Amino acid sequence: MEILGVSGSPRKGGNTETLLRETLQMAERMGCTTRTFPLSEKAVAPCKACGGCFQSGACVIQDDMQELYALSSRADAIVWASPVYFGDVTAQLKCVMDRTFAQLQRRSLKNKVAGVLVVTRRVGAVQAKSLVNSFCIVHGMVVAGGAIGYGRDPGDVLTGVGGGMNMTAMEEARLLGEAVVNLAKRLRGAP
Ligand SMILES: Cc1cc2nc3c(=O)[nH]c(=O)nc-3n(C[C@H](O)[C@H](O)[C@H](O)COP(=O)(O)O)c2cc1C
Repeated sequence: MEILGVSGSPRKGGNTETLLRETLQMAERMGCTTRTFPLSEKAVAPCKACGGCFQSGACVIQDDMQELYALSSRADAIVWASPVYFGDVTAQLKCVMDRTFAQLQRRSLKNKVAGVLVVTRRVGAVQAKSLVNSFCIVHGMVVAGGAIGYGRDPGDVLTGVGGGMNMTAMEEARLLGEAVVNLAKRLRGAP
């Protein structure tokens, strides 16, 4: 079983990448193969609404999104992660979300499991999480759960609280990994 993590933070080694790693490490402990697509190292241009994907089901823009089309199409589950920027996901992750319009034409993300992870200094986590949840539903993905981390500087989430009662962000990230893998196994009919 393959679990893909997409990090929307432009900051390498930041809080989003830290929490996403924790989620994916839990998936590995449960026997899964994991892949990451960190937008701190990738360049994905915005959708230009050319309509090319209506004709062919493929996006005409040749950039790192082509790698993500391949990775996401074969993954059993995808964890979407983003810091909160002005109350929502980053522009980098929004570019990725818009470019999945090509995959919507082919329904290639349908019935995959999703997890949603957001990091914020203080406010906006719920809005950002809601946007990603809605995006997953449009694609027909099945959302297994989410996690929230609070922090500003890189590493803050290592000791910070999570969004749930009496939970640290790292605990929530691990629980998210567990929930994603368990649901993916059930959808596959595995015991
Ligand atoms: C452009 C920008 C906008 C931000 N907007 C918000 C915001 O609306 N609410 C908030 O609480 N924190 C906001 N932050 C803080 C980040 O969410 C926070 O620093 C987070 O830990 C960054 O994650 P990263 O380390 O993975 O990059 C913003 C940070 C930046 C750079």
